Amino acid sequence: MLSIEQRLSVYPRLRFMGSKHRLGARLGEVFAALPPGPALDAFSGSGVVSYVLKASGRPVVANDHLTFAAALTEALVANDATQLTAQDVDAICSGNRDGRDFIATTFAGLYFPDADHAFLDAAWSHVDTLAPAKHALAIGALCLAAAWKQPRGVFTVTTPRYDDGRRHLRMPLEALFREAAEAFNRAVFAGASPCESRCGEALEIDDDFAVAYLDPPYAPPRDDTCYIKRYHFLEGLATYWRGQEIMWETRTRKLRKRHTPFASKRTVRPALDDLFERFRDAAIVVSYGSNAALEVTELEALLRRHKPRVERIEIPHRYAFGTHASASRRLAREYVLIGA
Ligand SMILES: C[S@@+](CC[C@H](N)C(=O)[O-])C[C@H]1O[C@@H](n2cnc3c(N)ncnc32)[C@H](O)[C@@H]1O
Repeated sequence: MLSIEQRLSVYPRLRFMGSKHRLGARLGEVFAALPPGPALDAFSGSGVVSYVLKASGRPVVANDHLTFAAALTEALVANDATQLTAQDVDAICSGNRDGRDFIATTFAGLYFPDADHAFLDAAWSHVDTLAPAKHALAIGALCLAAAWKQPRGVFTVTTPRYDDGRRHLRMPLEALFREAAEAFNRAVFAGASPCESRCGEALEIDDDFAVAYLDPPYAPPRDDTCYIKRYHFLEGLATYWRGQEIMWETRTRKLRKRHTPFASKRTVRPALDDLFERFRDAAIVVSYGSNAALEVTELEALLRRHKPRVERIEIPHRYAFGTHASASRRLAREYVLIGA
């Protein structure tokens, strides 16, 4: 059986705000010391922690309210065996089946060259015909390719102001998609127990778990943690913008913000209280970064209301991500609270 580190080394690396990719092995050790049984990753994001939990043999429910995040865990956590064949990938890259052009017309002159937008429309005309696991793998690979080609992986800018010289920025999206599809295929493995991917509200989950891993977006002192602002293009791409509300007045063709009580200083406390109460019968593992408006001591006190024994682990962590170049180099502290 491969180690957690070996598994982690093949997990596709999406630059996702708050990703715990680098803490994956440490979190694996934390989970290994907790009672066996089903695990929940209620805010799965990049999916990497769900993947670590799957690698440990537990049955896992991965949940996130973003569709593209759920596609990642559908492809690599819930899916045990299906891969995209060379024929599948060639078919997705074989041209437009039905002449659709929503992406080409909506985003002309914005994120990518016209040929890339046309490729995404054409690819989607095939993706629409795929069975669920292949569909999720294709969506995951399209999102990864688009994120690779976008400076800093975020869609808040439409000009290449932040060109960091990466070869990805100059490659056609089709070539990037082919690379990304290989990366997804490499990461598919059969877990020891069945796993599930969900797209929904964390505060509405009401199953029983042995372990609940909670990594909500804490409001920082300045700026915000709006995932839709940064990743609206990936969320749109995961759905072909169906059921999404584009704010046409915005230059970047943003989607309407997704409400979450965790990201606002006003509602974060009652929301966390509700969350901890909901999973009080499980071992609760909470991630927390030191650049949040809420102090870790306060978070710990909130958790103690529901779990009398709380242990705090501190992990120095260099943030890969920030709004400014300086922020991206800042050394922050990452905490893990374990309520047994
Ligand atoms: C800090 S990130 C999680 C990062 C993840 N642990 C990883 O390693 O990539 C927070 C995630 O919570 C999701 N989210 C925010 N509010 C939510 C809610 N109320 N219900 C479900 N998901 C939510 C966001 O979409 C985002 O993906």
